[in-house]
Amino acid sequence: MKKAKLTLDRAYQIARIDPRLYGSFVEHLGRAVYGGLYEPGHPLADENGLRTDVMELVKKMGVSVVRYPGGNFVSGFNWEDSVGPNRPKRLDLAWFTTETNEFGLHEFCDWCKKTGTEPMYAINLGTRGPEAARDIVEYANHPGGSKFSDMRIANGAKDPLNIKLWCLGNEMDGPWQMGHKNAHEYGRTACEAAKLMKWVDPSIELVACGSSSEGMPTFGDWELTMLDECYEQVDYVSLHRYFGNPTGDTASFLAGTMNIEDFIRTVISICDAVKGKKRSKKQLNLSFDEWNVWYHSSQQDKEVWKRDKWGRALPLLEDIYNFEDALLCGAILITFLRHADRVKIACLAQLVNVIAPIMTRNGGGAWAQPTYWPFMHVAKYARGIALNAIVESPKYDCREFTDVPYIESAATLEDDGSVTVFAVNRDPEEDTVLEIDLHAFGGLRIAEHILLHHDDVNAVNTEENPGNVIPAAGPGGVIDGEKAAVRLPALSWNVIRFEKI
Ligand code: AHR
Repeated sequence: MKKAKLTLDRAYQIARIDPRLYGSFVEHLGRAVYGGLYEPGHPLADENGLRTDVMELVKKMGVSVVRYPGGNFVSGFNWEDSVGPNRPKRLDLAWFTTETNEFGLHEFCDWCKKTGTEPMYAINLGTRGPEAARDIVEYANHPGGSKFSDMRIANGAKDPLNIKLWCLGNEMDGPWQMGHKNAHEYGRTACEAAKLMKWVDPSIELVACGSSSEGMPTFGDWELTMLDECYEQVDYVSLHRYFGNPTGDTASFLAGTMNIEDFIRTVISICDAVKGKKRSKKQLNLSFDEWNVWYHSSQQDKEVWKRDKWGRALPLLEDIYNFEDALLCGAILITFLRHADRVKIACLAQLVNVIAPIMTRNGGGAWAQPTYWPFMHVAKYARGIALNAIVESPKYDCREFTDVPYIESAATLEDDGSVTVFAVNRDPEEDTVLEIDLHAFGGLRIAEHILLHHDDVNAVNTEENPGNVIPAAGPGGVIDGEKAAVRLPALSWNVIRFEKI
């Protein structure tokens, strides 16, 4: 059995964790909205057509903030189409489907209220610009007495929708985006849109589009150039990253968080470089507002489009996630906790049916994919302060990386003195005993060891068998004075909760 060591100290604090780290994302894409959030006539739909079985799973998952309505979709979207009694059908050029606009802004805010989530609303800076950006903030947040706020009232919402978090477009660096811009054009547009939006409501916060991945040829230059134009007007820079394992190389796949580490560090450095250059007093933070595994469905999507281009609510991006995907998601969440001082918002992309932890069948059930569980554990237990977890772990080399620690870990300290350790064991063969130095925390006991493990990395959940990959009690360990020793099974996600005696 291998051994690893984790040293924690209440003095080694990274930051208080922003609960918006446990965000997700719903795009008008595939069956995310129609058949996911919203299915009038479903036996479990409420009076507004919202699926209560899905809402229950979302609440249990602990999602804090939900980015909406896109994604690529938003870059051709007219927000006016989604409010009021007359909702036009539109061609969506992002996903080659027809958007009926039956579900729109008010329906989304209603859903957010019912699920206890906060809306994070993306505006269209692709085919539109500062004028539409100004109008939607007036519609959503101005109390009344103006054209758009009165239109909202006439549409049934007397009180402002009070949306506090806004994205200035989506992936504007990508040539696939409607209204794609170069960094200078985007920076100028984002600056002017942001000015108008904040003049309407100074209390809002704004996320500027960073690169759509660190693999983009413009990565780095994009952030530098666009921030040079809009640094003072925005509050966060976005990062997006998806992972895949098409060749079945589990060792490299699970090491993918090494890339995320570099990505985060680079974007922080660029933000701070622009801050220095501008002699600004303001610090920008990061919004990792799209992250996930995404590759299982790519062949199926091609067939769907061949069959039914311009259809409504097509079964697109319906990745069926397996156990190793859940391990990677756990490791990604650990990485965010380790950067809790600068990563303040993160959104698992997406939430229902589309590259999602929650799946549904039209007219049928809703169930959790394996990736649901690490997210739920972190959203529930990673509260309070993120601690600087110093891990000494044996390492391995794989096709894509060298010196990958088998054990990846983060830890949190809650206000009541309880400590929680999150750990992924990437070792495919051996269990590891994790020795945890808890000298700084006084009398603690092991309250619980939660384990997610399956003997088959390809194991999945289905509507018929939703309990194939689910958490169970772990082997736990011993605690002796200031040290605990906990067994982490080979290939496992672990949550070890320590409580005050
Ligand atoms: O989440 C799916 C898509 O991935 C989003 O629409 C886009 O922003 C990204 O490329």
